[in-house]
Amino acid sequence: MKNTPIDYSIVTQKIKESGLPSVGIATIREIKRLVDNIQNATGEKFIRMEMGIPGLPPTQIGIEAEIEALKKGVASIYPDIFGYSELKKEISRFVKLFLNVNVDVEGCIPTVGSMMGAFACFLTINRMYANREGTLFIDPGFPVQKQQCTVLGHDYKTFDVYDYRGDKLGPKLESYLKSGKISSILYSNPNNPSWICFTEKELKTIGELATKYNVTVIEDLAYFGMDFRKDYSKPGEPPYQPTVAHYTDNYVLLISSSKAFSYAGQRVGMMVISDKLFHTKAPDLRRYYKFEEVGKAMIFGTIYSISSGTAHTPQYALAAILKAVNDGKYDFVEVVKEYGEKAKIMKKIFTDNGFKIVYDKDEGEPIADGFYFTFSYPGFTGEELLNELVYYGISAISLAITGSTRLEGVRACVSLVKREQFPDLEYRLKQFNEDHPV
Ligand SMILES: Cc1ncc(COP(=O)(O)O)c(C=O)c1O
Repeated sequence: MKNTPIDYSIVTQKIKESGLPSVGIATIREIKRLVDNIQNATGEKFIRMEMGIPGLPPTQIGIEAEIEALKKGVASIYPDIFGYSELKKEISRFVKLFLNVNVDVEGCIPTVGSMMGAFACFLTINRMYANREGTLFIDPGFPVQKQQCTVLGHDYKTFDVYDYRGDKLGPKLESYLKSGKISSILYSNPNNPSWICFTEKELKTIGELATKYNVTVIEDLAYFGMDFRKDYSKPGEPPYQPTVAHYTDNYVLLISSSKAFSYAGQRVGMMVISDKLFHTKAPDLRRYYKFEEVGKAMIFGTIYSISSGTAHTPQYALAAILKAVNDGKYDFVEVVKEYGEKAKIMKKIFTDNGFKIVYDKDEGEPIADGFYFTFSYPGFTGEELLNELVYYGISAISLAITGSTRLEGVRACVSLVKREQFPDLEYRLKQFNEDHPV
């Protein structure tokens, strides 16, 4: 019997009851259930870092706008398939003010979260050319996006960017693009799970190759403005959130409201299609759609088929939030900075106790502190580490499920960890370190 911060025998029993062969390779939902059970049985609170959900209250401006819209009676009316006109206008303004990119309102389309945005992109863009086979994921990444490709029957390719930063990125990308089989490239920036951010040089490389090989970049900006090393909070003023849109016309941007505005529950996001791509004609689309113009196929073919638009009141919410942000009346970056501040402290507690940060640099510069970070411990794989950390009241997920080749790595999400828990985290990691001398 070992003496661990969480009762050894109860944890062992709960793991046995869960039927999981290994905690370290369980899915996020399985880990959540197991930890809930251990917490109930022991009365001990875990440091919960497995789920990537916002830990802040929703933006109040949105709630009020939704209530008002509901009272006005919008619930009985089908939303416009293009999206609510005020929201489309504010999305276009937001993109101009925070990315310094011009996109016509017609290409600014509300979606049921970025999750639907990605699905709609795969569905439409991966069908533009009959001889192409699917998406190239610059990993590590958000596992469900690959599942979306799989359920659509699309092929996909992936590589871990860890060893291909800077000058090495171009040749690596080209090795896939040369095949002529890639329809789209997807990455998130800042990146879930590693929190690396591409440099301008890397974005330029991606953009230029996308143009050269006529491939569409799906840029997932789920953590918009959250690289806190720079201040991206001032509308219409540099620095702007970095984007591939500065380097190619072949892009779709996915901008989620879930993390930036803590609005995950209302499932509303923005899909922004470049003017050039919106009007691109791809005759092979006629295999599935009445239209060969990408924008029309996307709206009247894909979005109509999936959901007939986006629920009315969340669109009113997002329109009101964006208007306040665009007018400089609501500083969303200031609000979410809390994640970065917590990450800085938590990373130090980990590294002070023998842990290492796995993805630690953006081309020589230390990565930002934000929503996620990755860690490892000498002598452990990520799976082994998670199996052991559960006895210390710490839960997270293995990088193995994210397309990472760093099998020693674990992803930690800071959002649900409360500052009051930092002393517990410190105590538990210290004990872990003492029990597993390096
Ligand atoms: C990289 C990435 N893309 C997309 C999403 C989903 O965003 P939404 O809630 O807008 O569907 C997430 C959520 O965790 C994410 O991490």
